[in-house]
Amino acid sequence: MALDTIDLIAAVPGTLPPLMDQFRRPITYLRISVTDRCNLRCVYCMPEEGLPWIQKAEILTFEEIERIVEAGAAIGVRSIRLTGGEPLIRRDLPKLVRMLAAIPGIDDIALSTNGMMLADQVDALVDAGLRRVNISLDTLREDRFFAIARRPGLDRVLAGIDAALRAGLEPLKINCVVMRGRNDDELAKLAALTRERAIFVRFIELMPVEDNLDLQRDAYVSADEMLARIGEIGELVPVDGPQGNGPARYFAFRGARGAVGVISPLSHDYCERCNRVRLSADGRLRLCLFGDQHIDLRTPVRAGASRDDLMEIFRGSMLIKPERHHLRLGEQSSRMRAFSEIGG
Ligand code: 5AD
Ligand code: SF4
Repeated sequence: MALDTIDLIAAVPGTLPPLMDQFRRPITYLRISVTDRCNLRCVYCMPEEGLPWIQKAEILTFEEIERIVEAGAAIGVRSIRLTGGEPLIRRDLPKLVRMLAAIPGIDDIALSTNGMMLADQVDALVDAGLRRVNISLDTLREDRFFAIARRPGLDRVLAGIDAALRAGLEPLKINCVVMRGRNDDELAKLAALTRERAIFVRFIELMPVEDNLDLQRDAYVSADEMLARIGEIGELVPVDGPQGNGPARYFAFRGARGAVGVISPLSHDYCERCNRVRLSADGRLRLCLFGDQHIDLRTPVRAGASRDDLMEIFRGSMLIKPERHHLRLGEQSSRMRAFSEIGG
């Protein structure tokens, strides 16, 4: 039997075997939620009154996150994405970026943000080592923005996008959740943003979470319908994404610098290539975006676990990483609210 790359990496003397799940998927990507709080209230994500927020004392400190990432990096985690809630409301986020960028093995740090506070912080973030950003943008109309996010702020998001481009964070990914009757008539206009600049606009199918089931039923638009409608303004050719494809499929207009992506969270296309796990703000390692499977890392970290101990917990967690999610259209998962995204 031929050795594959993973066997070769594992065979190098002095190198620890990389983290791999039972289905031989190498886990190289860790998404870290730094807060569950948000300064918007998007209708597809959370109720107007907010959620029962996690208590401050239960939220991992930067030092605790650093220790977990050091352990992950020692066994193959290479890429980090900071998420929320809204990650930029966590105070001093550039400090965390700097701490994580200094960890040997970590070679990519990205951020998923709603963009509201990005213009003010982008220079400090880039200086600290941030390389990539995904910004949510569901509409180009202020009245719609208010209807979807339940707070004003489109101008701030657009300023954030400008600031990110000015700071050199290209290619820039924009995430847009498509909802029938709310923003689906803006598909073409949003897709056109990809013509002039290295912007990748990713249209995401509305996923079911606890409080949005009515919305999900009424407003769901499939990725195929999105592509058909965008195709009406110009021919779309399949292309590779900016960093490989992840969960998105990409298409470009002729001569465009960017591309249009579609993400179908409920399809299983991506599961077999899944390379990711997620750390919640309160220190649980979540093994599947759509499942409940998780392992508590906060308790051992606060009890003084060593890096080796944490590496063993990472390895043990692989036993409960499921092969694929089982969510289907019209079903809900209480876990899913947690953000976000599939995107990224
Ligand atoms: N459906 C689809 N995408 C969602 N996101 C959050 N909730 C949902 C949902 N119900 C994603 C969007 C948003 C990001 C913060 O999380 O991409 O822009
Ligand atoms: Fe906040 Fe993002 Fe949820 Fe909107 S989708 S409420 S911006 S966390």
